[in-house]
Amino acid sequence: MPYTCIVGLQWGDEGKGKVIDFLAKEHDAVARFQGGANAGHTVYANGKRYSFHLLPSGILWDDVIGIIGPGVVIDPDVLIKEIESLGDLKGRLFIDPRAHIVMPYHKLQDFLFESSSKKPIGTTKRGIGPANRDRYARIGIRIGDIFNEDYLNEYITRAYDFNRRIVKSYSHEFPELREILEYLRNFAEYVKDYVADVVVLLEELEKSGARILLEGAQGTYLDTNFGTYPYVTSSHPIAGGASTGLGIAPWKIKRVIGVFKAYTTRVGEGPFPTEEISEVGDMLKEIGGEYGTTTGRPRRCGWLDIPLIKYAVIINGCTDLFVTKVDVLERVGVYKAAVGYNINGRYSELPPLYPYEWEMVEPLYKDFPNWENMLEYVEKTTRTEIIFVSVGKEREKVIERKGG
Ligand code: GDP
Ligand code: IMO
Ligand code: MG
Repeated sequence: MPYTCIVGLQWGDEGKGKVIDFLAKEHDAVARFQGGANAGHTVYANGKRYSFHLLPSGILWDDVIGIIGPGVVIDPDVLIKEIESLGDLKGRLFIDPRAHIVMPYHKLQDFLFESSSKKPIGTTKRGIGPANRDRYARIGIRIGDIFNEDYLNEYITRAYDFNRRIVKSYSHEFPELREILEYLRNFAEYVKDYVADVVVLLEELEKSGARILLEGAQGTYLDTNFGTYPYVTSSHPIAGGASTGLGIAPWKIKRVIGVFKAYTTRVGEGPFPTEEISEVGDMLKEIGGEYGTTTGRPRRCGWLDIPLIKYAVIINGCTDLFVTKVDVLERVGVYKAAVGYNINGRYSELPPLYPYEWEMVEPLYKDFPNWENMLEYVEKTTRTEIIFVSVGKEREKVIERKGG
């Protein structure tokens, strides 16, 4: 079967962009299945830095097809900017009309919720939560809704009324309906050449023997169901999300590569047992360049947390692992990882199940003489092989460890 799914095993920013670009040269298509412009996937290639928010990270290879599935929420402004920065992608980029649109009012609400909350989530303020809320409230605007004006004029009423009420409750202005319709009309004109039924497209690619990568955004512990709720995103970055986000039967996804960083980072609020609010945390941040691709926020840094990786490997059913940023750890010169937890007097090698327990977690650390030993420990614990080791941000800086 042609599908290989790439997922993050931590709180995002594991280096998925680099991994996907690296693997894409041996593939024919890369498909994004969830998330939106909250993602920031960095690729260094041909001496340049590219930062992808919506476009699949394999798109730099001319012969790779890019696909965006219905599970994604699309910010028109970001999409247009990204396509324009690469030139014409017609015939090489396909977007499913069932993908939802992140409306300007979603971004406004994300901003209003976050800035007025006593306990913010620390979102990227890209409107992702409100857009997915509308998806499930069945008032979302999808790309396929905007091509027929009569249909849209009638359909948009519920979304308009509901979103207007929310924004007004913050005593904030709300745009006129005609302004919103004008915005969507312009987007329809731009996006129409990229729209395709990705179910049919993937089926055709499958039949032709194509090799297809499925690109996850965010990471397992930002998953709405399995992450550190409520400090999560509003989609499913796990392997199962690829099936619902693209319309691919689960049994067709034979390979799941879990990407993890040799240490841990997190952006935004929420639990983080191995966080180092210390000099060494600052060293990881500076040497690792740990500043958000999307928001520029400094990332919180700490040691590798093996219980988290172990549980994430189970959730995703990882067949292989890909570790990144080992060079950063090498420069810091310490190889340390949590191998278990003391949770309120109880020993555990798995993350806590109840939200209040996260605050009680005391990581139990192990020091390793070198990174090779540390990786072997991860392999033993997860019973999964690490097939590639990334040792630098550039495309070619990857060491093949085992039959990758
Ligand atoms: P993603 O969201 O999972 O795609 O990860 P990001 O791109 O947001 O963050 C990962 C950062 O680490 C980016 O700046 C990458 O260029 C960089 N990176 C990826 N792999 C490596 C590596 O092995 N070594 C170093 N030093 N940097 C890396
Ligand atoms: P990539 O794909 C790291 C985090 C935000 C916040 C929470 C909810 O680059 O790995 P949202 O805007 O999604 O409602 O924010 O999720 N977050 C990410 N953290 N990498 C990401 O994407 C993220 N996307 C969202 O910081 O804590
Ligand atoms: Mg990122």
